[in-house]
Amino acid sequence: MPFTIAIDGPAASGKGTIARAISRRFGFHHLDTGLLYRAVGAKGGDPILAAEGLSAEDLARSDLRTNEAGQAASRVAAIPEVRAALIEFQRRFAVLEPGAVLDGRDIGTVICPEAELKLYVIASDEVRAGRRATELGADPAETLAALRERDARDSARATAPLRPADDAVILDTTDMSITEAVSRAIVEVQTRRR
Ligand code: DC
Repeated sequence: MPFTIAIDGPAASGKGTIARAISRRFGFHHLDTGLLYRAVGAKGGDPILAAEGLSAEDLARSDLRTNEAGQAASRVAAIPEVRAALIEFQRRFAVLEPGAVLDGRDIGTVICPEAELKLYVIASDEVRAGRRATELGADPAETLAALRERDARDSARATAPLRPADDAVILDTTDMSITEAVSRAIVEVQTRRR
């Protein structure tokens, strides 16, 4: 039986870092689902057709990590047909042996409601903006405004809004180092794998 880990949370909360570390630690596959929406947004044209025809090449673009690509992703992610076009790929990925870690916004609630572990990673707005601004070499105040705009849109949309699953473990990384956050997540996995 594959072991599926769903990691959700707002932008720059640390979920990607935790997902990568956990997948390495347990030898699991990792899918950054935000990248799918970023690639759809960056492709331009009709977002529904872009989602339906998404290729490995689209996902390998070098311009998907910017604040602008994040905003475009958040806009196309509110379109139900775009989300529907990406569901099957994510669900197939989630059952890869020996296990899979998916990070995003709706993994625990919509994509993998049966995941063995659901983590919902949060951090204060200021800490998240600081981390993302450092990573991108961007202005902290602009980054804070962009994150808040994106979180508001991602939380308010009608289809698969950002929210924790009822049985998600909430991990607040505001005052945690990466090592501490990863250790906490590893303990949650180990508890459930016994
Ligand atoms: O995780 P990220 O910052 O790369 O995500 C970019 C945007 O994609 C995010 O603002 C909302 C959307 N997204 C989503 O709606 N559902 C997901 N599972 C992942 C991302």
